[in-house]
Amino acid sequence: MKLGIIGGTGWLGGAIARRLLSQRFVAPDDLHLSNRSGKRDGFETWPDVTITADNQTLVDACDCVVLAVRPEQLRETVIDASGVLVLSVMASTPMARISELTGAHRIIRTMPSPAVERGEGFTPWHANAAAMSGDRTTVQALFDACGIAEEVAGEGQIDWFTSLTGPVPGLFGYVAHALIEASVAHGLSREVAERAIRFHAMAAGNEILKSDLTPAQDIERVLGYGGVTTAGFEAANDAGGMEVFDVALKAALAVAIKDWT
Ligand SMILES: NC(=O)c1ccc[n+]([C@@H]2O[C@H](COP(=O)([O-])OP(=O)(O)OC[C@H]3O[C@@H](n4cnc5c(N)ncnc54)[C@H](OP(=O)(O)O)[C@@H]3O)[C@@H](O)[C@H]2O)c1
Repeated sequence: MKLGIIGGTGWLGGAIARRLLSQRFVAPDDLHLSNRSGKRDGFETWPDVTITADNQTLVDACDCVVLAVRPEQLRETVIDASGVLVLSVMASTPMARISELTGAHRIIRTMPSPAVERGEGFTPWHANAAAMSGDRTTVQALFDACGIAEEVAGEGQIDWFTSLTGPVPGLFGYVAHALIEASVAHGLSREVAERAIRFHAMAAGNEILKSDLTPAQDIERVLGYGGVTTAGFEAANDAGGMEVFDVALKAALAVAIKDWT
C-alpha cells in the first residue's frame, strides 16, 4: 500500500509515520509526507521517504491518505481525494466537512494520540457508509501497529475521544499535577514530588492496564478496606471529585464539536 500523510512531519502525523516505518508496516519508498516548509526533521534516517509540498501529487501517488493538518489548515489544503481512502486524525472536523473540502468519498475518522510513536496509542475509528470492508481492515491494521485500534459506534464518539484519549497524558497529567502540587504544599521538595509521581504514574498505568479488577472494582475494594486510602477516596467523593472529570470532558467536547475549519 502506498500511504500518504498530509501534515506528515507534524507532531501527530510524524509520530504515526515514524511508528509505521519502525514497525515496517510501510516501506520508506511507499511513504509520502507533505508539509509547506519542506522540513525533513525526524526523518533524516529514512532518506527514501518522499516529502513534498504538493498535496495533490501526494494524493495521486497513494492508495490511502491520512489528513494530519490542524483543522483551520484544511481549507488551504486544496486536494481532490475522490479516488482514495481518506483517514482523518483531525479534531473538530466532521466527515461532511472533509468530504466538502477534499471531494473524498471513503472517509474514516480516527482519534489517535502522539503515544502511537511508542506503540501505546488507543485509536478509536468510525467509517462512513461508503468505506469498504478492505478500508476497515486497513485502518484497524494501521492503528493496531501503533497500539490498539477499535471501531466505535458513531462519529460523535470520535469527538468525545478527542479529549478522553486524544491528548497524552491528558487528564491523567492533570491528576499528576494536582498530586505534585498538594505534596509540595505539604512540604515535599518539588524534585522529590515530581520524581515520585512520574514513577508512580508508570506503576499505576501498568496496574490499571494489567489488573484483573476494573478501575471501578478497585475503588470498591479500597472503599471497603477501611484504611488510609479509603479516607482519601471518601473525601475526594465528598468534594465532587467524580463530577469534576465529567465537567472537564463535557467542556472539552463543546470545543471539539465547534467547526474550526
Ligand atoms: N498533537 C496531538 O496531541 C493531537 C492529538 C489528536 C489529534 N490531533 C490532530 O492532529 C492534527 C495535527 O495536529 P498536530 O498537533 O500534529 O499539529 P502540527 O504539529 O502543527 O502539525 C501540522 C503539520 O501540518 C503541516 N501543514 C500545515 N498546513 C499544511 C498544508 N497546507 N499542506 C501540507 N502540510 C501542512 C505543518 O507543517 P508546515 O508548517 O511545514 O507546513 C505541520 O507539520 C490536528 O488536526 C489535531 O486536531 C493532534
